[in-house]
Amino acid sequence: MLNMDEHPPEIESNREVIGRIFTTVAEAAPDIRAGLVGRRDAVAEENPSGETQKAADVYADELLCERLGSLSGVGSYASEEQSDPVDTGSGVNVCVDPLDGSSNLEPNATMGTIVAVYEDSLPASGESIIAAAYVLYGPITTMMAAEDDTTHEYRIDNSGVGHLMNEAVSIPDDPTVYGFGGRVPDWPTAFHSFVDTIESDESMKLRYGGAMIGDVNQIMTYGGIFGYPALNSAPDGKLRTEFEAYPVGYIVESAGGASSDGSQSLLTIDITELHERTPVYVGNKNLVQKLQAAVAH
Ligand code: F6P
Repeated sequence: MLNMDEHPPEIESNREVIGRIFTTVAEAAPDIRAGLVGRRDAVAEENPSGETQKAADVYADELLCERLGSLSGVGSYASEEQSDPVDTGSGVNVCVDPLDGSSNLEPNATMGTIVAVYEDSLPASGESIIAAAYVLYGPITTMMAAEDDTTHEYRIDNSGVGHLMNEAVSIPDDPTVYGFGGRVPDWPTAFHSFVDTIESDESMKLRYGGAMIGDVNQIMTYGGIFGYPALNSAPDGKLRTEFEAYPVGYIVESAGGASSDGSQSLLTIDITELHERTPVYVGNKNLVQKLQAAVAH
């Protein structure tokens, strides 16, 4: 057991900042949820990845930028919805997907908020991630938060206070669910063959909802594998490395699972651009290993 007094000062202060960031994201969750009503329409702008923005994307981004950016110890705020990071002082660097899966707004299905905390300046590599969390707006609001290689799950009440639901979450050993994004005819042959082996396992059931956080939370809860693969038409897939792949990889690995881009852990891939994309696969270690063996070049 580490004694807090033995930590070098910068590690201790990073812990405090991470605590403030997690508290702020939890406090923002009921406001983001309440703000969805009446903000389901697209706005005129596209985000830096060329995707249509909903009014709710813009609302959640502005709210989180203001609240996280004003915290002491946060040096910059970057989001999927803005081209460049916002300089907010000195300290750790926060990357946010304010409303993951916002196309689920119309059918009133699950969505999430993702936050990643990096020590290095942006764009930062996965190796400099020091904490990550996601909020899931499901029938109840929950938050999965990882730090120090440990993931805890909280229920967020209507006042934005987190209540510990699952301490040191561990992905179940016997996986039962899978979900993969992209059009099936656009899947590369090797990936398609891997999916066939998963589907031929009678213990595995399809769970795909179209918002990464909802789909990843199925894996965290029941065990299995989620992927948004490399596509024939898009070899880098769809998901954003800095905003989605690194934080979800960190959360899943901290819960005893594995992550991959098809050949290595998501946390070890390099990044040069803030908004670049990568194939993403996360889940039980044995399934991610099988995936890698199937799709590796
Ligand atoms: O961030 C993009 C996203 O909304 C993810 O949450 C989700 O996994 C993916 O897109 C769904 O994409 P598709 O509509 O191609 O299945």
